[in-house]
Amino acid sequence: MRVITKISDLPDYLGMKVGFVPTMGALHEGHLSLMRAAKANNSLTVASIFVNPLQFLPNEDYGRYPRPIERDLELCEAVGVDIVFNPTADELVGDGLTTVAVEGVTELYEGLARPGHFEGVATIVAKLFMLLRPNVAYFGLKDLQQCLVIRQMVKDLHFPVELAFSPTLREDDGLALSSRNRYLSETHRRAAPKLYEILRHISGQVQANENSDAALTEGKQYLAANGFVVDYLDWVSVPDMRSIREIGESSESALIAAAYLGKTRLIDNILL
Ligand code: PAJ
Repeated sequence: MRVITKISDLPDYLGMKVGFVPTMGALHEGHLSLMRAAKANNSLTVASIFVNPLQFLPNEDYGRYPRPIERDLELCEAVGVDIVFNPTADELVGDGLTTVAVEGVTELYEGLARPGHFEGVATIVAKLFMLLRPNVAYFGLKDLQQCLVIRQMVKDLHFPVELAFSPTLREDDGLALSSRNRYLSETHRRAAPKLYEILRHISGQVQANENSDAALTEGKQYLAANGFVVDYLDWVSVPDMRSIREIGESSESALIAAAYLGKTRLIDNILL
């Protein structure tokens, strides 16, 4: 495995089919599942580990985001990653003045709660695509809205890359794996699986044609009663993320949620 920190050291791949997994490190099985998928379907697997300052809001945890780089590199090596790109913020962002702003889907839900976040994500992913020139790039459906933003960007900017979206990996109790789960207190960690539990419950209700407004309202009450501060809990069409209330309104849809336990913001979703 090669670890590359300088843009000028990035190699020519000489006809290899490159599968690419962008990450911010603090790797867990969710990230590794994307790397395994890349490994299984390409001749060269490239991962990036870069805590992207552009996608953190001023009040967010950029400074204290975990950076266990030695362990991350061991995990990459163990799953058979060929190249890890691990640039500094100076190298990849520097004093750049150009950003990539995707309109529409970025203005809702996560975009509303975290203004500027998706512009930061799109800008850095565009840079990584330009530098690493992957054939296929892998993203997790855990961040459904991020997948939709990247898909729009790739379409609009004609990036010659295929996208592969992978299912969310979970703990045995249902909690979606996330680098931020480590911030949860013991009490909050015990409550955390209820986010996915309620999504599953509502998914059953709306698919049985029960009143979806009532199901969502009860869902919010259930979460609040269990210590969550709910940011949103909604049923939306995919890919445009319009709020919907009937099965017939969209052929593809998702139940999406974001809620705080203490200072930790959890997000999750279920595709219907
Ligand atoms: P990060 O949060 O490190 O996640 C990297 C990738 O792993 C993303 O595609 C994310 O959706 C996926 N992932 C996270 N948790 C997962 C889980 N439980 N199951 C499956 N996949 C999971 O997302 C980012 O970094 C950044 O925004 C990035 C795309 C790297 C741009 O900076």
